[in-house]
Amino acid sequence: MKKLTGAILATVFTTTLASAEPVDDTLILNEETPIVTRTAAPAHLSDALDEVLSGWLFRGTETRAMQSDDFDNPGMIFVEQAMEAWETADGTAGKSCSSCHNEIESMAGVKPTYPKWDENAGSVQTLQMQMNECRTERMGAEAWGYDKGPAINMEAALSSVSRGMPVNVAIDGPAQSAWEQGKELYYTRTGQLELSCANCHEDNYGNMIRADHLSQGQINGFPVYRLKNTKLNGAHSRFKGCIRDTRAETYAPGSDEFIALELYVASRGNGLSVEGPSIRN
Ligand code: HEC
Ligand code: HEC
Repeated sequence: MKKLTGAILATVFTTTLASAEPVDDTLILNEETPIVTRTAAPAHLSDALDEVLSGWLFRGTETRAMQSDDFDNPGMIFVEQAMEAWETADGTAGKSCSSCHNEIESMAGVKPTYPKWDENAGSVQTLQMQMNECRTERMGAEAWGYDKGPAINMEAALSSVSRGMPVNVAIDGPAQSAWEQGKELYYTRTGQLELSCANCHEDNYGNMIRADHLSQGQINGFPVYRLKNTKLNGAHSRFKGCIRDTRAETYAPGSDEFIALELYVASRGNGLSVEGPSIRN
């Protein structure tokens, strides 16, 4: 693994050899669904990484165990709330999600392909944007706030029915320019610390940064239940927190920049299993 040099970085990163590697462990959900937490890097990353690793491998024993059983996973409480919302009519058309989509299980396989190009919108759409399109255009209901409770809970419910399936976002065709914008953001150094996403999550994963074990910053586990704030968190909110930690101006959840970044980061995890809702610190 490459090491950063420089006065600031020397104080930011400390390598603790004992914890420098991700654990050697396997995740089997509810003793029946194997989750791929480690796999060969997708072709577009072959110059940078050999393997891609889920953030699960960088968490402590208890946190990993909590995620392996839905009864112990506090994120599943929010999934249950969303399952109720799925069946509940909302808006002027008097429809619920289930009026058109039947059982939520019919959405298995959808989450792994998002963000994706939407022909009608003429842009790359995230899952939350797609849900809001249904709410405003088909239900006569108000859009849910980006990464806010109802939206993030529904995203987690849609993720939960796809767990174990490989992330598989398309990066070519009409999605390519957003993907390239996301890649550029990923490698751009920002803030007083002049750090890019890659400086931490590509060059230094496995190392300790303050009290945190740095992962590859994958989003296959999103939405994520964080022990720190005891609720589900969206990928855009996580990006915002990471950028703020470099003491830079950041973008808003739902912005074009974060949509592009989500597509790019998701593509770095193509081949890892969908894991959300996962549990992190
Ligand atoms: C009036 C019918 C209707 C209702 C109600 C409805 N949807 Fe949809 N939904 C659609 C249609 C039609 C599409 C396909 C649109 C397309 O492909 O562009 C769709 C697409 C989707 C997709 C994308 C599926 C894919 O394969 O990419 C998601 C996710 C989704 N809806 C979620 C929801 C959620 C969550 C709700 C409730 C908040 C909801 N929908 C309510 C009709 C509806
Ligand atoms: C100064 C180092 C640093 C930078 C720069 C940074 N992050 Fe992070 N990031 C962290 C730390 C520390 C964590 C928490 C531990 C972990 O999961 O890696 C984290 C966590 C994450 C996670 C959660 C991973 C999971 O499995 O839950 C994602 C996603 C993420 N970062 C993406 C990004 C993106 C995208 C950027 C660039 C916009 C970025 N990070 C920039 C330090 C950084």
